[in-house]
Amino acid sequence: MSNLFRKKSLTELMKDHVGEVSGEHTLKRTLTATSLIFLGIGAIIGAGLFVRTAAAAANNAGPSVTLAFVVAGVGCALAGLCYAEFASMIPIAGSAYTYSYATLGELIAWIIGWDLVLEYALGAATVGIAWSEYLNKLLAYLGMNIPYQWCHSPFEASAAGVHGMMNIPALFIILLLSLLLIKGTKESALVNGFIVLSKVAIVILFIVFGWSYINPANHTPYIPASSIYTDTQGVPHNFGGIMGILGAAGVVFFAFIGFDAVSTAAQESINPKKDMPVGILGSLAICTVLYILFAHVLTGIATTDDFRHAGREASVAYAIQTYMHEYQWLAKLVTVAILAGFSSVILVMLLGQSRVFYSMSKDGLLPKIFSDIHPKFHTPYKSNMILFVFVGLFASFVPGDIVGDMTSIGTLFAFILVCAGVIIMRKTDPDAVRGFKTPLVPLVPILGIIVCGAMIFGLGFPNWLRLFVWLIIGFVIYFGYSRKRSKLNK
Ligand code: ALA
Repeated sequence: MSNLFRKKSLTELMKDHVGEVSGEHTLKRTLTATSLIFLGIGAIIGAGLFVRTAAAAANNAGPSVTLAFVVAGVGCALAGLCYAEFASMIPIAGSAYTYSYATLGELIAWIIGWDLVLEYALGAATVGIAWSEYLNKLLAYLGMNIPYQWCHSPFEASAAGVHGMMNIPALFIILLLSLLLIKGTKESALVNGFIVLSKVAIVILFIVFGWSYINPANHTPYIPASSIYTDTQGVPHNFGGIMGILGAAGVVFFAFIGFDAVSTAAQESINPKKDMPVGILGSLAICTVLYILFAHVLTGIATTDDFRHAGREASVAYAIQTYMHEYQWLAKLVTVAILAGFSSVILVMLLGQSRVFYSMSKDGLLPKIFSDIHPKFHTPYKSNMILFVFVGLFASFVPGDIVGDMTSIGTLFAFILVCAGVIIMRKTDPDAVRGFKTPLVPLVPILGIIVCGAMIFGLGFPNWLRLFVWLIIGFVIYFGYSRKRSKLNK
């Protein structure tokens, strides 16, 4: 039993990670707190804001999706405070998986690593599907379009009754970015900086120009009465009231995912102990404020009914096009910036996923193929290819709502484990040096667990079931394969 909780020693950890997947990763310490904030925002702002917000308004909360952003932001801030303690204790490349292996033991590390697949791999699929929606919008401006069946999953049907077959644009963008990762092209700081600035710029432009187009009638009532809404695909949702807000919070939680990506850059940070928490919490704070204002404007310009029908896809461009007649240029600009912005999010997610698998494979928990390095490109190319197939299958054949909510629930569960981890570590390793200490332990982690737990509750039974099945598959692999082959077994 005890060896389920065997831990990797810190010395081991440091040794393994020096010289980590070169080509994607240099050990030069060049990142300042500001560059970490940029990195964070680059990974954060994406499909959650530009696609899932409208879905949450349509299916769950109407205008009160703004309150859902408050709930999700609070949950992330609490979990972020816990993440920051983890990241400042072990300032090396990695993620919650790496930290937990050294502190909480192998079984918990496995569960977190397995769970991160939902966050990174399915997150990439979700953003790929969102990319497909906005690509169609761009093509529409140019007088073209992709037939419905070739840009939707088989589980979706259009209002005219056309059934989806396969989402080819989503598959295409995943392929393109996987190839880029294999080649090891490092997104230069300059390109990332440019994409981040344009993302933030369009969010601010939308808020500023859109504000005067808010129609107060669209915000009344702000919290709709509770009911069950069955969407156009026949799926029922809790709409309105508290359950509506919690469900929407679970959905838009997706928009915050990625702030933890900052922690994977710890090795490149000049002063990780101080700058990690600033990077994590700073990017989170900026995004929360922007999100709340953005959601307020979006739900003020267009109606909940728009988001259920004509504006169901590429909702932000739709709202501008339909209600802000003087700003047609903005609709086009937003569409182009969103396509670029989504690409950078997908890249970070695919990179994060291959990095987590790389570590798990080095530890013997996954087959060696996941850490085979390309002789010329120095990247884990086989892992990238396998991941392309896995992520591509979801992107091509599963609706965005489903992969999006699976990403949310998987990440929420990982956050709960991280919060619990901080409490446990304070007991088991009280003397370890912590560059940043989560304030008010155990209150903050406990509140984090409660708020993230409430969002899981809001996501409803089908998502609980999906998470449960995913974890069961994980246990089967762990007990059937990984435990025996773990390096710690030798
Ligand atoms: N937070 C990222 C997004 O919204 C995953 O696309």
